[in-house]
Amino acid sequence: MNTETLTSRFPVVTRQDFSDVTFLLEIKHPMLAKAAKPGQFVIVMPDEHGERIPLTLADFDAKKGTITLVIQAVGKTTRSMQRDCQVGSTLLSVVGPMGIPSHIGKAKKVVCVGGGLGVAPVFPQARAHHDGGAYVIGVIGFRTKELIFWQDKFASACDELIVCTDDGSAGIHGRVTVGLEQAIAKHKDIDEVVAIGPPVMMKGCAEVTRPHGIHTVVSVNSVMVDGTGMCGGCRVKIGDQVRFACVDGPDFDGHLVDFDDLNARLTRFKPSEAEANQRFEESCRLQAAAAKVEAQASNATRPAAGK
Ligand SMILES: Cc1cc2nc3c(=O)[nH]c(=O)nc-3n(C[C@H](O)[C@H](O)[C@H](O)COP(=O)(O)OP(=O)(O)OC[C@H]3O[C@@H](n4cnc5c(N)ncnc54)[C@H](O)[C@@H]3O)c2cc1C
Ligand code: FES
Repeated sequence: MNTETLTSRFPVVTRQDFSDVTFLLEIKHPMLAKAAKPGQFVIVMPDEHGERIPLTLADFDAKKGTITLVIQAVGKTTRSMQRDCQVGSTLLSVVGPMGIPSHIGKAKKVVCVGGGLGVAPVFPQARAHHDGGAYVIGVIGFRTKELIFWQDKFASACDELIVCTDDGSAGIHGRVTVGLEQAIAKHKDIDEVVAIGPPVMMKGCAEVTRPHGIHTVVSVNSVMVDGTGMCGGCRVKIGDQVRFACVDGPDFDGHLVDFDDLNARLTRFKPSEAEANQRFEESCRLQAAAAKVEAQASNATRPAAGK
């Protein structure tokens, strides 16, 4: 792991909004861009008052010296990043790359499955398998057509691409598991499936591949605190063993992950998360009210046109 000092600031050089909750940030960080590998993540602290949150590297470009994150605004920190991270703004700290890089082995045929936001973190793995000479089948799924992002980018790393939507507005009507079943029915020689998305989606994919005995890798996003294997916050049950997602993962054998335990652990902090979210909403409301009063006051003191 290589770290930068807290006094460094990391500028946002690109911002792209995919929907009202999902957005992309490209960040200048030459050292990290050079060291990054597929499957790794960073821990970001947006400002002096914020908390540290883990985010997967959705892309990295050593030549440009940038890393790309795709973020879903779900709570206090991600929503404040959605509001404040614009081109030209900076992040206080971006630490990484963390976690064990994905194993890009000798698999000749790989299916890379991305569910919703999971499309972004699975992209570097699809590209690495493709660059390594594997035949890559991409399966990407969204709730509806309007939420689709990176379809062309993903297609560039795949030999075949299956798009799925829950409501049938684009591609196959159904979840990614339907697309995965279709790929397995067509190709009898799949060596590996990589599935990234919400736990329920990764569990669904693991259950699809289990009867076929296809090695299945999932990325476990348990709640992380230090990200260094010290606090135990990110512990996950893998078969009969306990592992820490931050240092032993985040990639694990999907057939061994105890998804019920993972789900239970992910909801442990719901009351305090809801409280922080509520405080954030209240501060946004107060800021908006103050801005309105200021605007009214400056209008009142401005001389009327022609006087
Ligand atoms: C290895 C890893 C990679 C991740 N990659 C991405 C990514 O690329 N894009 C993305 O949008 N999100 C990613 N996440 C999830 C992201 O870290 C959480 O959404 C974020 O921490 C939520 O913080 P919040 O204050 O906005 O919301 P909160 O209201 O605090 O939390 C909302 C939900 O996010 C999860 N969460 C909260 N805190 C953490 C934490 N410290 N670590 C992990 N999960 C947490 C919990 O399930 C919680 O219920 C990743 C998580 C992990 C562990
Ligand atoms: S986040 Fe503390 S041990 Fe993994």
